[in-house]
Amino acid sequence: MSKNIPIIRTVADLRKKVSSWRAEGFRIGLVPTMGALHKGHLSLIEEISKKTDKIIVSIFVNPTQFGENEDLDKYPRQEKEDCEKLAKTTAGLVFAPSASEMYPDGHCTRVTLDGISEILEGAERPGHFDGVATIVSKLLLQCLPDVAIFGEKDYQQLAVIRQFVHDLNIPTKILGGTLVREEDGLAYSSRNAYLNETDRTIAGQFNKILHRLVLDVQAGKAIRDAENEAKSALLKVGFLAVDYVSVVNSDTLLPLTTNRTGGRVLAVARIGGIRLLDNMAIEAP
Ligand code: PAJ
Repeated sequence: MSKNIPIIRTVADLRKKVSSWRAEGFRIGLVPTMGALHKGHLSLIEEISKKTDKIIVSIFVNPTQFGENEDLDKYPRQEKEDCEKLAKTTAGLVFAPSASEMYPDGHCTRVTLDGISEILEGAERPGHFDGVATIVSKLLLQCLPDVAIFGEKDYQQLAVIRQFVHDLNIPTKILGGTLVREEDGLAYSSRNAYLNETDRTIAGQFNKILHRLVLDVQAGKAIRDAENEAKSALLKVGFLAVDYVSVVNSDTLLPLTTNRTGGRVLAVARIGGIRLLDNMAIEAP
């Protein structure tokens, strides 16, 4: 039988616990999540374990990063199952605050970035990265961890977080965690559970089509042609729409034209009422 994992609900209790760990000289790691934990989340805990002694996993479905017509109400909430999974890991604590603890009445501060948060996902979901940057800033300041980890699954989110942590001089080292895939290559996501069997099969083509694009670009195909072919291929296998397939500079996330080193393809396609995100590195051939 595995241990139970302690759950903390308030910022005051979190600070007390972190101070006592610090007094004992422990290095503290934070893994922010919205719950409905899967192997992608669990791999972040494994990765941060190598750098820290005590790990806090936060579970908070953050309302400010959801748009008006998005799935905030039906986003999966399964704290009990999540805590059972976490009890089997090296995580030492769950921080699962209420919405009113995180956003008390009168809360009116928002963290906003120019540029990097306005393109790609930022253009498709206006205000989304303000919500992410605000909640992640709050979590980092509440916890003041030595290290925090975010998955490369949400590649632009990771870039946005690195940017404001640098700009605001937040003294936490940000790690990028490897993207973890299911057996057929579909990136793990809490929203995959929404897919019916047919759509789930189609979703398994997403990574294969992006991999084809990566090989084509490495082989010298013109980038815009490779992007357009990937979009057509996605629609052909049954995706309902493609929000973007963009080959970008992996640091600035601006479109790459001819320079093929240091590139990354970022893509979003829609199926079964959800938006699937994926991305892949384009190494020099
Ligand atoms: P959530 O979607 O729950 O993801 C929590 C963390 O897990 C993020 O850093 C995300 O990039 C990572 N992750 C998700 N799927 C992954 C996969 N297949 N492989 C590797 N890592 C994966 O991202 C959020 O929550 C929120 O925006 C949050 C940062 C918690 C702020 O509310």
